[in-house]
Amino acid sequence: MAGRYASPGGREGSGDLSESEIAVHWAEEEYLAPPAELARTANLRDPGLLERFAPSAFPGCFEEYAALLTWRRRWDQVLDAQRPPFYRWFVGGSLNVAENCVDRHLATAAERPAIVFVPEPEGEPDVVLTYGELHRRVQELAAVLRDDFGLVAGDRVTIHLPMVPELPVTMLACARLGLVHSVVFGGFSGEAAGHRSADCASRLFVTTDGYWRGGRVVDHLANLPSSMEAARADGHPPERVLVFRRYPDRSLSAERLDPSRDVEASVALARHAGARVEPRAQPSDAPLFLMYTSGTTGRPKGCQHATGGYLAYVTGTARSILDLHPEDVYWCLADIGWITGHSYIVYAPLALGATTVVYEGVPAQPDPGRPWRVAERLGVTVFQTSPTAIRLLRRLGPERPREHRLRFRVLATVGEPIEPEAWRWYYREVGRGRAAVVDTWWQTETGGILCSTKPALDRMKPGSCGPGAPGIRPAILDEDGQEVPHGSGRAGNLVLLAPWPGLMQTIWGDPDRLVRQYFAKYNRDRSSTDWRDWPYFAGDAALIAADGYVRILGRVDDVINVAGHRLGTKEIESACLTVPEVAEAAAVPVADELKGRLPDVYVALRPGWAGSPQEVEARVVRAIETSIGKIARPHRVWVVPDMPKTRSGKILRRVLAGISNHRDTGDVTTLANPEVVAQIREQVDRDRGP
Ligand code: PRX
Repeated sequence: MAGRYASPGGREGSGDLSESEIAVHWAEEEYLAPPAELARTANLRDPGLLERFAPSAFPGCFEEYAALLTWRRRWDQVLDAQRPPFYRWFVGGSLNVAENCVDRHLATAAERPAIVFVPEPEGEPDVVLTYGELHRRVQELAAVLRDDFGLVAGDRVTIHLPMVPELPVTMLACARLGLVHSVVFGGFSGEAAGHRSADCASRLFVTTDGYWRGGRVVDHLANLPSSMEAARADGHPPERVLVFRRYPDRSLSAERLDPSRDVEASVALARHAGARVEPRAQPSDAPLFLMYTSGTTGRPKGCQHATGGYLAYVTGTARSILDLHPEDVYWCLADIGWITGHSYIVYAPLALGATTVVYEGVPAQPDPGRPWRVAERLGVTVFQTSPTAIRLLRRLGPERPREHRLRFRVLATVGEPIEPEAWRWYYREVGRGRAAVVDTWWQTETGGILCSTKPALDRMKPGSCGPGAPGIRPAILDEDGQEVPHGSGRAGNLVLLAPWPGLMQTIWGDPDRLVRQYFAKYNRDRSSTDWRDWPYFAGDAALIAADGYVRILGRVDDVINVAGHRLGTKEIESACLTVPEVAEAAAVPVADELKGRLPDVYVALRPGWAGSPQEVEARVVRAIETSIGKIARPHRVWVVPDMPKTRSGKILRRVLAGISNHRDTGDVTTLANPEVVAQIREQVDRDRGP
């Protein structure tokens, strides 16, 4: 166990115990050779690549990715780095993303399935959208957006949809017109979607009546009133709401529409049947979308991704790391509402002309054999999911993959560290030892994969994601900015030394935050116009072994990664404080065997509260679900007599996290109220049993 690292956390003096410090991590594992078959067939099987993407070839190396796209106008300059950390890629070029993901495949592949929608109820037939059909649907919807709502390039559209085919269709319709979409994960509460919509002043809000999840119908439209209320309270209610229906002939929600604001999608689309809407060429650095994510401060921030650089980067990495070919049937079992889904369910697979599977529900519904039945039936060749899903499927049905004829060539994992045991099950049982496993590390902010093995070229090492992707230069810096040498066994802060085309452009409405949060830590000279002075601080602790392979420990900040989804502790705490009797709240990460981490919540009550702790617990849980969503539901809510505090009154989350994780809390004698630590520990230990 390599428990000592240079960095106790990204924020000096915070005194909090971060994810990376409660990381359970593992020793270096033995290598496994890539499957022999890949050496003959992989997109990337030429070791010359390493030279083409060597640091000396920067930034021109990334032209190889841009060349995978169809440009209306070719770029004049690969990288404009005059104003770091605000970079512009493929400057002077213009293109349209929908044209790249749809139109350009029509000549050769109009009949090929682009999207296969698999409903959660197993008796319901798949919905197959060929590239031809997708082209028709995207144009009809683009006509609605343009002609009925009067939306013009640059306008924002918030899309609060679950995993239904209308989600990628809406994204592509926006892209066709140059509208900036902001997809909010369907599982987020109405309120969370409303605040995000208002933050970017969306003119249109897109939703649906309901969907299937975990064997039940979710009434999604019931979220709409709280979305609208939150957006109104923030001063930016959307002008219109577009409402899809899961079934054409019935409604899954009793929620009434407001005829002055809401529009039934089926009615609007019928008016534009057969519409033609030409794709609008966009400058390479026009924004394509926003994706809100949690960071160190309370409000989620809108990461803004560009058109040309982003599409080039995700397409290039899907080709090289996921080894996607146009003939592939690819299934990424993530949600389009997260960055993984944007990049590697929608944009990259479609840009490459492959078939992408959109699955509505949860992995083990109705049983843990489901993913393997779907994969066999559809002939899935490249598969991707999260370690949480892998652990779940393994626990519930370790033998189930063997019952099926599976043809996986590449198996990807993303979102959280994967322990070698789960990795090996994925490799042996799901891949039968014939597929390459790629553990891909990246973030919402980074657009695409940054660290991973290359499936045909690199040996795999369970528990390590691998070296930097082509052209990507990861390094570990200590708190003073000194590089920690590879193989030293010391961990520190993971940084990227050079920019890449997928890096977000800015934070919507708050460019300073981009500088503060990601670059201020290691930039010594704010006036420097040399990108070398601006390492990107990822917010993860990691080690790099002698072979250059990166091993991620987890976040060093206030983010908790629950089942591969990012939650901000500050957001959880603000939600708790909406409960009137709660005086103080602290959310800390607790290790969980299945989901990696969960939030544990501690609350102290206002004096005079006479009700039962159970009542408060239930209200706190409800408040969190209302303001964020069920994914943030805490592991436990502990009602405590007081919070452990420093003499200056700061809550010491580090002590609470120590208690939650049954770890040493360190020296607490200097606290203002040391006696409370023993009380809380006793309370937690008593409740958890021996
Ligand atoms: O802590 C890292 C973890 O997920 C964080 C990024 O979360 P998000 O922006 O939601 O994007 C997730 C999907 C790209 C990172 O800071 N993370 C992501 N991939 C891995 C990972 N941790 C370990 N191994 C990974 N492969």
